[in-house]
Amino acid sequence: MATDRIINSESENQQEADNEKSLRPKFLREYIGQEALKQELSVYIKAAKQREEALDHVLLYGPPGLGKTTLAFVIANELQVNIRTTSGPAIEKSGDLLSVLNDLQPGDVLFIDEIHRLPRAVEETLYSAMEDFFVDIIVGQGPTAHPIHFPLPPFTLIGATTRAGLLSAPLRDRFGILAPLNYYQKNDLQDIVQRSATVLNTKVTEAAAQEIALRSRGTPRVANRLLKRVRDFAEVAQQTTIDCDLAKQALDQLQVDQAGLDQVDRRLLTMMIDLYEGGPVGLKTIAANIGEDVETVETMYEPFLLQQGFLKRTSRGRMVTKKAYQHLQRPLPAAD
Ligand SMILES: Nc1ncnc2c1ncn2[C@@H]1O[C@H](COP(=O)(O)OP(=O)(O)OP(=O)(O)O)[C@@H](O)[C@H]1O
Ligand SMILES: [Mg+2]
Repeated sequence: MATDRIINSESENQQEADNEKSLRPKFLREYIGQEALKQELSVYIKAAKQREEALDHVLLYGPPGLGKTTLAFVIANELQVNIRTTSGPAIEKSGDLLSVLNDLQPGDVLFIDEIHRLPRAVEETLYSAMEDFFVDIIVGQGPTAHPIHFPLPPFTLIGATTRAGLLSAPLRDRFGILAPLNYYQKNDLQDIVQRSATVLNTKVTEAAAQEIALRSRGTPRVANRLLKRVRDFAEVAQQTTIDCDLAKQALDQLQVDQAGLDQVDRRLLTMMIDLYEGGPVGLKTIAANIGEDVETVETMYEPFLLQQGFLKRTSRGRMVTKKAYQHLQRPLPAAD
């Protein structure tokens, strides 16, 4: 349904994926925002380098588009090691995992995206790999089945997930560094817009960058997408610099408002107000009513609405807040 969203988690096509790659900062000093986390990481990275040891395993978690993949590459660059990337669903069997691990040099980074989607058997194989750098794999069947012991070089596993809550406790406990990513502040997003504009060879005034930042849903990926769409408007209008008026005009057409809400966010809230008097409404009901699946609502839409105080969680379901009524210019329900 929501195909025209600027907020989907996946890069929709190859060109966008390439674009996203070119905008990725490569080192911590270029990675904007997340100050506390960056500082912590830089200490661990320095210490690991001084000891000439592999960095502890890192779990990056948070909503889509906040820079988890980017940060994994940044960490490998800072460590000056190779990074191999794979994802939870791509590793079907323990044997697949072994072949990935086998290729690592001492100190290398293995990045597993969507780590919450690893099959259980693979996850169990990963435990000993993470903890003691070996895997035991059973070969053969029936009476001839026997384990083979594979020692591994010390490596750093970087796992990324939008759904940390789905990770099993034994897996989570094996990460020495837990790295939560939060929605970005406006000024950080503004810096990201400026940085991306420079990379894209586009001029943006400060006020325009601020306007784009305001509407980016706290998310760098959204900021970059909006910047590119606004740049298209500027090109058509034959304007060499993106100014605030042009940005506003373009962003209005894209239907993202100054709270960063897009039409799906507003539809979700309006639906809850119109059909359920603001809630409480269960997640499944919300998902069904806006034509999305529960996981999408839970990982992509809801966290931002909760964080911004448009929604709140209660034991009986989600409720629309006063702030949402005001934002949507709806009369508040009569107090009962
Ligand atoms: N701190 C940052 N500074 C500058 N740009 C950033 C930062 N974080 C993310 N970006 C930009 O946002 C884009 C999306 O980031 P990234 O792909 O790393 O997000 P993600 O958390 O891995 O998302 P997903 O959960 O969908 O995999 C990147 O292309 C990058 O250009
Ligand atoms: Mg990613």
